[in-house]
Amino acid sequence: MAKLRNSLSPNNLTKTLSFFFFSLLAATAPSLSSATSATDTFVYGGCSQQKFSPASPYESNLNSLLTSLVNSATYSSYNNFTVMGSSSSDTARGLFQCRGDLSMPDCATCVARAVSQVGPLCPYTCGGALQLAGCYIKYDNISFLGQEDKTVVLKKCGPSEGYNTDGISRRDAVLTGLLSGGGYFRAGGSGDVQGMGQCVGDLTVSECQDCVGTAIGRLKNDCGTAVFGDMFLAKCYARYSTDGGQYNAKSHKYKTNYGGERTFAIIIGLLAAVVLLIIFLLFLRGVCSRGGK
Ligand SMILES: *[C@@H]1O[C@H](CO)[C@@H](O)[C@H](O)[C@H]1NC(C)=O
Ligand SMILES: *[C@@H]1O[C@H](CO)[C@@H](O)[C@H](O)[C@H]1NC(C)=O
Repeated sequence: MAKLRNSLSPNNLTKTLSFFFFSLLAATAPSLSSATSATDTFVYGGCSQQKFSPASPYESNLNSLLTSLVNSATYSSYNNFTVMGSSSSDTARGLFQCRGDLSMPDCATCVARAVSQVGPLCPYTCGGALQLAGCYIKYDNISFLGQEDKTVVLKKCGPSEGYNTDGISRRDAVLTGLLSGGGYFRAGGSGDVQGMGQCVGDLTVSECQDCVGTAIGRLKNDCGTAVFGDMFLAKCYARYSTDGGQYNAKSHKYKTNYGGERTFAIIIGLLAAVVLLIIFLLFLRGVCSRGGK
């Protein structure tokens, strides 16, 4: 207790308070900024087991590859690069794919962010992949370009709606629309039910169709009557949402509707008030006991 009182000297108290407000900002930020930063939302990341040594030829090839990805995303929504090394193990291969509805500046911003995040996520690994809501990047020294890969990398199903025939049949109709939509980017829906699909641009048209078909089949099968579903395969994805919220599971916690968001803000506000009151009482106690000596 004495220790606690010491740490609550007026000087430390202001530090504690500013730290507290910082935490509060961080806690409420997702619900405030998710609408504008929806393309930056982290979806998943993965790294290879193989590592390379710092300052190796592969590292410099990888760095020039990543730079090419960022530059290329200013004028294209998909591209692939191969930076040849003296041996095949030093050859860096990579690609990026932006979501089909992003404008060029948004695509470039997203890819730049993905590249800056993949380094800390995958330190010195030969291969890495990162999916943000608006773009995908992948690199490796193993050849993977042009190969269809339907491995499930991320599956997320929302809470079950229970048996709601109308909701599920509308969801199925939207998914069927996606399946017959064609193209590398597909989006559609009616009212609160929205769906989206995207292939990586190194697939052929028929491989893309096959990949999206697999993702949609698994969504229906694995997510059952869930409010939302995300099915990310290595070279394509499909996702849906039935409550008009955003696709990402994280934003669903806060953004199901405005009522939910407000409740969340009120709870945070009440917690803040209680913590402030406790800090204030402890502070008063500290001042009184020191004054009494
Ligand atoms: C990739 O690089 C690692 C580490 O240098 C090496 O062990 C591996 O054989 C390389 N893979 C290929 C396909 O060259
Ligand atoms: C990779 O990029 C080159 C040059 O832009 C292109 O000709 C080739 O088809 C691409 N390969 C794949 C697998 O997308």
